[in-house]
Amino acid sequence: MQADNQASTKHIQVGLAERSYPIYIGQQLLPQLAALLPSLPQQICIITNATVAEHYLATVQAALPAECTVIVHYLEDGEHAKSLTSYGAVMDALIDASFNRDCAILALGGGVVGDLAGFVAATYQRGVDFYQIPTTLLAQVDSSVGGKTAINHPGGKNLIGAFYQPKAVVISIDCLNTLTPRDFACGVAEVIKYGIIHDAAFFAWLEQNQASLAARAPAALVHAISRACEIKAEMVAADEREQGVRALLNLGHTFGHAIEAECYEDWRHGEAVAAGTVIAAHFMQQANELSGADYQRIEQLLQAFELPVRAPLLAESRWQQRMQRDKKVQAGQLRLVLPTRIGHAELRKVSDWPAVWAAIAALSETSQ
Ligand SMILES: NC(=O)c1ccc[n+]([C@@H]2O[C@H](COP(=O)([O-])OP(=O)(O)OC[C@H]3O[C@@H](n4cnc5c(N)ncnc54)[C@H](O)[C@@H]3O)[C@@H](O)[C@H]2O)c1
Ligand SMILES: [Zn+2]
Repeated sequence: MQADNQASTKHIQVGLAERSYPIYIGQQLLPQLAALLPSLPQQICIITNATVAEHYLATVQAALPAECTVIVHYLEDGEHAKSLTSYGAVMDALIDASFNRDCAILALGGGVVGDLAGFVAATYQRGVDFYQIPTTLLAQVDSSVGGKTAINHPGGKNLIGAFYQPKAVVISIDCLNTLTPRDFACGVAEVIKYGIIHDAAFFAWLEQNQASLAARAPAALVHAISRACEIKAEMVAADEREQGVRALLNLGHTFGHAIEAECYEDWRHGEAVAAGTVIAAHFMQQANELSGADYQRIEQLLQAFELPVRAPLLAESRWQQRMQRDKKVQAGQLRLVLPTRIGHAELRKVSDWPAVWAAIAALSETSQ
């Protein structure tokens, strides 16, 4: 076997005092779950969906200690599963099975499963143990780490939720082999984000290792996921409740959320973030705060992973309305995460809407 096809297991610690927890990243970790999670309780509820279960549920079940009582709860596949209705159905299942306060919730799936399962864990009997086994690249580098859990309300995404940290995160990169190219690319958009906001050397590594990452070579995956998780762990440890540095993880997201909300049937989160990141970079280049060379490197790296770098055509008023609903807006003022160079970004108040609109308009589809 080539060196590129082997990767050793990494252990990253999220430092949150008594709520600190490990992230394990490696190959074939699902069969090793019992050893990685030695304090699993007697009652375990696995939350997953049929798409993920088909590939990985049997391995997870076989890896759990034989004496445990294990129930499996299936969500529907898709963002609509993050609903009050499916939340209620999991609660019913836990109560029907007489699960007590010592049970554990195990999330096996992408961000949808992880977000709902985390909120279930945060609230069942005022909080029970929670373990993340993320199976999409986006969940592995972003949603499974940091303790943001939520479900959606008809009035908006993630409106009901809690900060609730898992006890451990187990990232088995083999799970990515069954992921669609589109879902894989969406995860890469978030990986690239970490390079832009915090780590120029990592960004350069991504440029140099594009081909092996795109081919999902194990060593490249373990490195990319580990570095992303290290950066996220550092920011979460410094600012668990997103009052400062953690907000930088929202690079491209204010623009991206507007695209997602307007075009939810055609655009995935990672794709919208990619286009949003290019708009943020263009805005800074126009203000002479980001070099043209850095702007081009950002655009080219996203494009290399076949991510969109142009926004859909939407009316200015739609953009403005959607962006005003961003969680970072304070007293009606936009606050945007803006890169000043590859490896550094800042959260800035922005009052010059015409300049923001100029960046959006310059990068909307018809202007290509
Ligand atoms: N909590 C956070 O901090 C945070 C951060 C970012 C995103 N999110 C949330 O994450 C969600 C998006 O997550 P996502 O992109 O993982 O979407 P997802 O969970 O819908 O997964 C995408 C698709 O891949 C399938 N899938 C999952 N694992 C697979 C595998 N190994 N092989 C084949 N198919 C697989 C899923 O069934 C689904 O169809 C959104 O709801 C978003 O709000 C949360
Ligand atoms: Zn994101």
